[in-house]
Amino acid sequence: MLPFTRPTLGDEEKRAVSDVLSSGWLATGPKVAAFEGALADYLGGGVDVRAFNSGTSALEAALIAGGVGPGDEVIVPAMSFVATANVVKRVGATPVFVDVDLVSRNLSVSGAERALTSRTRVLLPVHFAGRAADLLPLHQLAKERGLLVIEDAAQAIGTRFGDGHRIGGSGNPVCFSFHPNKNMTTIEGGALACSDGDFIRRVERVRFHGIERDAQGGVDVSEWGGKMNLPDVGAAIGLVQLGRLEAFNWRRKELAEGYLAHMPRHGALLLPEDAPGHSWHMFCVCVDFEMLGTTRPAFQERLGSLGVGTGIHYPAMHLFSLYRKLGYGPGDFPHAERIGEQTLTLPLFPTMTDQDLDRVCVAFATLLQGTES
Ligand SMILES: Cc1ncc(COP(=O)(O)O)c(C=O)c1O
Repeated sequence: MLPFTRPTLGDEEKRAVSDVLSSGWLATGPKVAAFEGALADYLGGGVDVRAFNSGTSALEAALIAGGVGPGDEVIVPAMSFVATANVVKRVGATPVFVDVDLVSRNLSVSGAERALTSRTRVLLPVHFAGRAADLLPLHQLAKERGLLVIEDAAQAIGTRFGDGHRIGGSGNPVCFSFHPNKNMTTIEGGALACSDGDFIRRVERVRFHGIERDAQGGVDVSEWGGKMNLPDVGAAIGLVQLGRLEAFNWRRKELAEGYLAHMPRHGALLLPEDAPGHSWHMFCVCVDFEMLGTTRPAFQERLGSLGVGTGIHYPAMHLFSLYRKLGYGPGDFPHAERIGEQTLTLPLFPTMTDQDLDRVCVAFATLLQGTES
């Protein structure tokens, strides 16, 4: 069975872990410092990076460091991994959902503009599946309204944007995830990049119990902090993975281009589009199961019987019972809801072969054969 994703880990990563285990320093230490420096260089050198034990923690710390709390509203896309909205709730603020574009699956800028109120503090776009969100108008909007832009780049390490700069290098807070299904991994882990020194210092405090040390070695805690630090074992793996990232992303791009060239064309099948700088974290299609007279579980089972595994990324968040309590319901965000009902994630990972790709395209052609197109 071809899974929809598989991490690429080899002897170098194993050696890196073994070295850390032998070093006697297992928690946050020299490897984390080296990883943060390497990431900052990778992002273009104009930002500081702080590593976290997850992308979720990085987002939570960014909101706290941005002073976001009860009474504040944060604009989020209605379709993302639920962490994007949960972190807003976690800091006591209110997520305000906005529909996404059906093809790019990224936040609608006009929708965001319409959703602004006097309580809006943050725009929180997601770079879905490695495709850059429409950042220029979002930054413009933020500038006009005095808002902070915090980018959820959990799926976008290596994505380039507009002028060619890497997502994460622009200076505002940008958060990455290095969960095993991402384009590179630290097992669990994440990072925050930002060019504002005061913001970074606050993020550091929030990351570790609120602890602040002065030059004389004195310690103070002036605000709450959590336990969000990355261990050195993860950072050591991350350093190796970062060195391999461009090659990983190159192969992902080749495979995505292969899908775009060879997937069958059919009225029930909506393919994603390529875009400059796309890092192809996932290849997600929409399938109109109703038009095909089937259901998603039945379709997935038939693909499975042909050796093709699939994932679902993601259900619309505003329809989760937690968020319906805020007054949301079916019909609010048609694109997010359609994606939630019709999405399938196809296999895409660097060690996937051209034959694997053919197998997926042939499986789709087989299932769509004889149906009205
Ligand atoms: C869009 C998005 N945001 C946030 C996260 C959370 O990252 P982590 O799993 O590292 O906490 C993920 C992880 O899948 C994600 O896809």
